Amino acid sequence: MKVTVFGIGYVGLVQAAVLAEVGHDVMCIDVDAKKVENLKNGVIPIFEPGLTPLVKKNYEEGRLQFSTDAEMGVHHGEMQFIAVGTPPDEDGSADLKYVTAVARTIAQHMTSHKVVLDKSTVPVGTADRVRSVMEETLKERGVEIPFDVVSNPEFLKEGAAVSDCMRPERIVIGTDNDDVVDLLRELYEPFNRNHDRMILMDIRSAELTKYAANCMLATKISFMNEISNLAERLGADIEKVRMGIGSDSRIGYSFIYPGCGYGGSCFPKDVQALIRTAQQIGYTPRILQAVEEVNHDQKLKLPEFISRHFGEDLKGKTFALWGLSFKPNTDDMREASSRVLMEALWERGAQVQAYDPEAMDETQRIYGHRSDLKLMGTKEAALQDADALVICTEWQSFRAPDFDSIKKSLKQPVIFDGRNLYDPERLSKRGFVYYAIGRGASINIA
Ligand code: UDX
Repeated sequence: MKVTVFGIGYVGLVQAAVLAEVGHDVMCIDVDAKKVENLKNGVIPIFEPGLTPLVKKNYEEGRLQFSTDAEMGVHHGEMQFIAVGTPPDEDGSADLKYVTAVARTIAQHMTSHKVVLDKSTVPVGTADRVRSVMEETLKERGVEIPFDVVSNPEFLKEGAAVSDCMRPERIVIGTDNDDVVDLLRELYEPFNRNHDRMILMDIRSAELTKYAANCMLATKISFMNEISNLAERLGADIEKVRMGIGSDSRIGYSFIYPGCGYGGSCFPKDVQALIRTAQQIGYTPRILQAVEEVNHDQKLKLPEFISRHFGEDLKGKTFALWGLSFKPNTDDMREASSRVLMEALWERGAQVQAYDPEAMDETQRIYGHRSDLKLMGTKEAALQDADALVICTEWQSFRAPDFDSIKKSLKQPVIFDGRNLYDPERLSKRGFVYYAIGRGASINIA
């Protein structure tokens, strides 16, 4: 099938590459000429396991094209994906200007029936808005051309985006026209083998499904972080509690890891956007507000521990920081806990020596101008002469470090662990002061 994807961001690029891989003829359109040029030369703008070879192969074999020519893109596909960004407005609601601009572009150039699929995470009611923008534009042109608008949210996780997209757990389709369903079945047939993963519903329910999924996951995390704060104060160990409750199949083991707060491009933005949507219709979303508040405070947990140990004034102190990305297997630092931590340390006069397996360039881009940040080439180098080690991201390579050499490199054997990577008892036996999240039973918290 011929497919056009507007917006070569995370969602757009991964979706396009995966659709091309199964044989569809995909054209990607973006306004960023440099990005388009780079992609043609095999330079992929994001770090995502498996994506670079997939893009290169499908581009070379002619199933994946990149262009800035929107008109050509509109003519190319009967399927027109909108996968452009929906950045938060000042008040936290999703800004739809890029989505509506694409809708207008499609309507300006279309000469035959189009199925417009909303892939971006968009507030409930956006499909209606896309439809009315397109109707207006067609009216201005004085033509009547049929089209359908479908809500088809994406659920991929960064770091596992290609495999999530290749083997989706569900394909949510929101439509008010049964006739489109056959076309969508054909489009997604390669991903829908063995058992039917397509969940059909009305458009508004599909739009809300995306927010509800992300907000539920964010709620699980904030809930666990709240319990971890209780565990810390009650002398219990959250890691034992986590295993205790995860074994209940109704609760499950996933997304109940306590830590120094969730980040990324989705959870913080989507929780805020749903709060705004609720408020706009006169409803106070108490749970969502609490989820957001708990997460805000959780990102301040490590700076709080550091103050507890070293006092408020950190002038002359240097901290080794392991992990800058918002989670492992990505270089993405949007809303990362590491940023809140570094900014808190700098405010109190400290220096930071940071290392991340993938996010060094991104850190350089955001904070390269700062003289109180040193970017280090290895995790060992980051430790040299630092007063303590702080961990913000659970990269695999941090899980079993050489504790003796950590001890030798640091001025004091102190570790602040925002991801509960180590066994508190073992660290204590080795002579470390170990601060972790919600481990009140066994750690050195005054
Ligand atoms: C998320 C959703 O998982 C995905 O389905 C949606 O399409 C986009 O948003 P992503 O932002 O890539 O994906 O990251 P995810 O793996 O969900 O992690 C989000 C954040 O939650 C990270 O900062 C992570 O460290 C944190 N997290 C996750 C926890 O603190 N505890 C957990 O148990 C799980």
